[in-house]
Order: sequence, then structure tokens, then C-alpha cells
Amino acid sequence: MTPVVSLRVVRNDEAAVSEPHSEFASDMLAALANHPRGISPKYFYDAEGSALFDQICELPEYYPTRTELAILEGNAASIATQMGPRAEIVEFGAGSLRKVRLLLDAADAPARYVPIDISGEHMTQAATLLRRDYPGLQVKPVVADYTQPLTLPPALGGTGAAGGRRIGFFPGSTIGNFTSDEALRFLRTAARTLRGGALLLGADLIKDPARLHAAYNDSRGVTAAFNLNLLARANRELAADFDLSQFAHSAFYNAPQRRIEMHLLSLKRQRVTVLGRHFELEEGEAIHTENSHKFTIDSLRALARSAGFTPGPVWTDPESLFSLHWLEAPRT
Ligand code: AVI
Repeated sequence: MTPVVSLRVVRNDEAAVSEPHSEFASDMLAALANHPRGISPKYFYDAEGSALFDQICELPEYYPTRTELAILEGNAASIATQMGPRAEIVEFGAGSLRKVRLLLDAADAPARYVPIDISGEHMTQAATLLRRDYPGLQVKPVVADYTQPLTLPPALGGTGAAGGRRIGFFPGSTIGNFTSDEALRFLRTAARTLRGGALLLGADLIKDPARLHAAYNDSRGVTAAFNLNLLARANRELAADFDLSQFAHSAFYNAPQRRIEMHLLSLKRQRVTVLGRHFELEEGEAIHTENSHKFTIDSLRALARSAGFTPGPVWTDPESLFSLHWLEAPRT
């Protein structure tokens, strides 16, 4: 989805300056004006960025996707028991709808699937395929930002229809890309949306920093391209003039903060222009583009508890790389 950027041009004493009319435009301008410079990782995911992320998920070094799929597959029966019959599955940030197929295959006659994603086009295509493959399932995509309070179709259980519990699904450890305030806010909202149901949540675990480092510094340079695509996107959408060869991908594990940090480093002193505004970057100066927080099983359970959930079973892999948590939502 391409955000709308205004073409209205106003004059100031120096140059033509376009008014920022997209959230990406105003956040990018703010990121360059602020010190330290930082922007939300949500802007990685235009069409190019989403395709690069799909490639990351296949990389040998990027263990989370593979490991989470294996955990889902290996524990499908116990997860299905937790879900109960005729469940309604609500997926937050549904993407390509690949992981949910494992849940749908395991579940006892799932009644409805509600994928929520900001990118309507991508989701609509994936939903069509899903309807073909699961003919008895109602598929009701919702195009929305799932981090904001949402209006969903009424829960099946509450409509008198023969629906079971409402089960949220938030795989991939995307929770780790939130700040701690955002994570708490998301979980509190999810607890309300899922009242009387539960949340199945994927969370990446703290491990050997070398393993983490490799996952975000892959040998094929796909993660670097994913990071740099943020600047390429600004060039495409915000009339920016970033020279990508003058920026470097940097990703490292910040142990005290328990997170991988991704930055884009300026390789020289340079001036960049975005929507007619100019910014100076020093050599070595960084734009902070992503945090990917890592958890212990207990830290994730404590976070869920503080948002009102009651933690249930946790499934993990033999190397304890990744975890999948069953969190019971409050009844009222
Ligand atoms: C989407 N998210 C959970 C990924 C992560 O691992 O934090 C995004 C990513 N960034 C670099 N590689 C993958």
C-alpha cells in the first residue's frame, strides 16, 4: 500500500518544501530532526520490505520462523486441546497466513478465522486461497492497524451461533519489536478483544549472543538490504536523495537491554534531502531503525500477567531458542 504524500509545494526562503501528509513522511522527518535519530520499524514493510522479510524467514541463520513452525507442528494436538471445539481464531498482523494453517489443521472444526492486517491487498489474496483450502471455515479479514483499538465482528460465542472460544494468534515474536509500553498496551487491548478466550503468542528467547548476532547479520546480506530498504522507500515515496552506498547496516545484541538493535550508519559526513528539507549527518552517525527484544519464559509470563492474562502452558524447542505461550484472557 503506497501512502499518499501531498504534492502541494510551499516556499520558504531556501527551497521548495512539500508538506508531509503521510505518517511515514512526518515520522521520517522527525527521525532526521531528532537526536538520537530513530524511527519505528513498522516502516520496513512496504511491498519490497515485506518481500525481503519473507526471504529473511527462509535464511539458514534466521532460526525464529523455522523453529516456531516446528513448535506449532510438534505440539498441534495439545494446542488444539487448549483451543477447544469451533474456535474463532483472530490473527494480529496476519501477513501471508502461512502459520495459521498449522493451527487450522490441528483445531477441532474451527468456526471462523479473522486475520487482521494493515495491508488489505496482500491479505485479501491470501484469504481467497484459505477459503479454497478450508471450505467449512468462515474467513473474515479485517483491514486495520492491530496495535490500535479495533472493532471486530461480534465473537461467535456471543451471537448465539455455534461458536467456541475466541483465540488470538500473534506469532513471530513481533511483540519484541514493540517498546515495553507498546507491548503492554497491545496486550491489554488484546485481553479485552479476547475476553473469555485466550492468546497464543510467539516470543523469541535470550540465547548465545553469537547466535543472535548471526540471525541479524546473515551472510547473504538480506537483512542489510531489508534495513537499507527504509532509505530506498524514502527515496521512492518522499522525494529523498539517500545514497544507499553511503550507509551501512549495523545490528548487534545489547545485552543489558535484552535486545537486538538495528541501525543505519552514515559512512561519511553527508547532507540528505527529504521532501525539500535538508539534514546533515556526521560520519558514523546512526539512525536507529529497530529493536527486537528477547525474553525469558518468565519475563514474558510476567509481562502477560501485568496485562491481565493468566499464563498457561508454554511450548519450546529442544534448544530453547523460541517459545510459544498459551495465555488465558480475563473473563470480564
Ligand atoms: C518481525 N520481527 C519479529 C523480526 C525480528 O526478528 O525482530 C524483524 C526482523 N528484523 C530483522 N530481521 C528480522
